[in-house]
Amino acid sequence: MSAETDFPTEPDEPDHKSDHRFDQADATSAIVSAWDRAENAAAYARFCAASDYYRSVSRALVGAAQLTQGERVCDLGCGTGETLLAITQVLGATAQVVAIDPALAMIRQAQQVSWPEGIEFVRGTSRQLSSLRGNHGFDAVLCSSAAWLHPHREALLREVFSSLAPHGRLALSIPSEFVGESAHLTEPSAQRFLSLLSSLRTELGLWPAQESLPSVDSLSSFTLSSWIDQLSSLGFARVSVVVHPFVMPIRDWAEHLAIPAVLDGLLPEASDVQRRQFVLQLTQRCAQDEQAARPWHLIVAWRS
Ligand SMILES: C[S@@+](CC[C@H](N)C(=O)[O-])C[C@H]1O[C@@H](n2cnc3c(N)ncnc32)[C@H](O)[C@@H]1O
Repeated sequence: MSAETDFPTEPDEPDHKSDHRFDQADATSAIVSAWDRAENAAAYARFCAASDYYRSVSRALVGAAQLTQGERVCDLGCGTGETLLAITQVLGATAQVVAIDPALAMIRQAQQVSWPEGIEFVRGTSRQLSSLRGNHGFDAVLCSSAAWLHPHREALLREVFSSLAPHGRLALSIPSEFVGESAHLTEPSAQRFLSLLSSLRTELGLWPAQESLPSVDSLSSFTLSSWIDQLSSLGFARVSVVVHPFVMPIRDWAEHLAIPAVLDGLLPEASDVQRRQFVLQLTQRCAQDEQAARPWHLIVAWRS
């Protein structure tokens, strides 16, 4: 392991080889900084231990990617290891996986459990894939619940495409509303929860009182068809889409929003005091035992 100049090497630091050095610009981006805090990583791990939200979609994504024993896989945006766990459950003790994440705090949390020998943790983004692919390329790149955090989607998909073996595939999971499929948000329990979010914002002065609930459409920054078109135009030969249905108690939805990096994304303009108040009020006033649909879209793109 060679020393990294930008990020001092510590005993529990993931592998930093000079040929896939992490870019300082990626490390300091607002999104990565939000994830890269020990309190955030710990809160994320606690949430994952209490709710099946991320674990269940990771398992479904591994199934959709049709991994088989002996394949070399990349887990892009590995976080605290939920998707990695699902991958190793299928590939077994001889799993060969490069687990990449730009947030060192998330990787450190993942490293608190022991993994099979063939798991390599790397701090990075899709930019590091070209130096990590090896001669053969990855048989599969999985990116569960992380793709929309990448600031340049075209670059992400291009970098993944180039890192794949000829038969390789990219498997993405994305909350359905982030691909513009948001019918579930019009259900009564979801509407009540979204109205509460809106009221709290107003009460805390986080936007002008006359402004109403954001439209469901504004939650989608990218449509499903644009994902598919972009994947096809980059050269992927086949794209399949599956919906992973998931239903969670409203209490868990509120807990999810309280994860610091998620809250940062929801209330970028809020002070620490406003955030604490928001979480407190949300927990106290939401209909905790009601259920709400929180589906995911699974997109699998095959190189040939
Ligand atoms: C919601 S977590 C998902 C983690 C894991 N895949 C899981 O399912 O539990 C999102 C992860 O994406 C990472 N991330 C943020 N920006 C990224 C980027 N540009 N490329 C890859 N991962 C990124 C975050 O650091 C975080 O660990």
